[in-house]
Amino acid sequence: MGRREPSAWEAVPPSQEVSKPWKRRAYVGKGKAVSENEGNGPGFATLSDLETSAQPKVIPPVWGYIQSGAGAERTVRANREAFDRRELASRAFRDVRKIDLSTHLLGTDVEAPFYISPMAYQGLVHPEGEKATARAAARAGVLLALGTLSSCSLEEVAQASGQGPRWFQLYVQDDPEKTRRLLQRAEKAGYRAMIVTVDVAVLGARDQQASSGLAMSGPIPLGNGPEFVAPPRGPEGKGAHFTIPDHGPVTEEVLERVRGMTSLPLVVKGILTPEDARTAVRHGAKAVIVSNHGGRQLDGAPAALDVLPSIVSAVGDRAEVYMDSGIRRGSDVLMALAMGAKGVGLGRPVLWSLAAGGEVGVGHLLTLLKRELANVMALTGSRSVSDLDPSMVGVR
Ligand code: FNR
Ligand code: LAC
Repeated sequence: MGRREPSAWEAVPPSQEVSKPWKRRAYVGKGKAVSENEGNGPGFATLSDLETSAQPKVIPPVWGYIQSGAGAERTVRANREAFDRRELASRAFRDVRKIDLSTHLLGTDVEAPFYISPMAYQGLVHPEGEKATARAAARAGVLLALGTLSSCSLEEVAQASGQGPRWFQLYVQDDPEKTRRLLQRAEKAGYRAMIVTVDVAVLGARDQQASSGLAMSGPIPLGNGPEFVAPPRGPEGKGAHFTIPDHGPVTEEVLERVRGMTSLPLVVKGILTPEDARTAVRHGAKAVIVSNHGGRQLDGAPAALDVLPSIVSAVGDRAEVYMDSGIRRGSDVLMALAMGAKGVGLGRPVLWSLAAGGEVGVGHLLTLLKRELANVMALTGSRSVSDLDPSMVGVR
């Protein structure tokens, strides 16, 4: 499949070349990688020390890429503030001796109502990349969403995931035949739904990423083959006129065309308004994901949690509604579920745990989240996810 050799290094401008101590910890594509945690531990103890445990394991330009939001990162902050502004009802007098976290996402049975969001280039943080994430997810009975821009091929990840539930996230390609090929491969490799991400007509303008030196147009190797492309950067232009390459914007026509390329159920990711949710459903979406891409796209976009209820009511029972952006703890998962999400996507914490401890790290994250969710379910008097409802969430 002619995979390109390294890696983040080529993308670091010479002026920012990173000194040797970091180099030892970097994934350099060819050689052995590389994190400090070649031991067997997860690399962190609690959800509270996860992020700080991960940072020293990742080279600065890659850390900048992961952490970065768009612009002044107002939406990144809004995502957390939306949770911090709310409170949960503490309820007594319930028999919560048995708690069941299981649910179904589009008919896929899962052991937890949270899933692993698609995130690009996981080989940048750990040599096993998405394979490690997939093994941990499968062991936990947690749904894995694998991105088009994975460092490992979707077939390798399918093999690592075994019987584990998995979906494929599509970035529409610059040639419909490439898009079709990817979808055929995904279908053949046992991915059970297609997530089309629609909030990246063009990549967000991410200053933190730019200043830390990882150029997205740089030659970061793609596991699915070097012919596949990332969403465009830009727009490029002069004077008053700017343009974006054709493959960026997912118009209704594009969505319709892509849907016709596969029999996999359609999930549309990156919805923030009731109108867009209705459009997605009209084009056959079986689920929509309320998401601002972790604040990486439109700076100034609302917190995903804040717009979730309006989208849940616009969609009704015509499609499932999931949510991501800002989920950090079991109590966040509970809040989003109570406000109407059927499933909740984990973002950066997965990359942090992968950096901190590879497969063991991701496994530990999923265990901690399950435990914490079960704990807050008990304390809110909930025995199963179907017990959760909006009356459990208040505003401070
Ligand atoms: C992403 N996200 C993303 N989404 C997507 O549809 N395709 C992709 O390839 C990626 N890649 C990606 C890389 C990195 C480094 C991050 C942090 C995120 C967005 C992701 O699926 C999800 O929407 C957000 O990460 C959720 O926000 P939090 O939880 O990270 O705040
Ligand atoms: C990102 C893209 C690749 O957020 O989705 O970096």
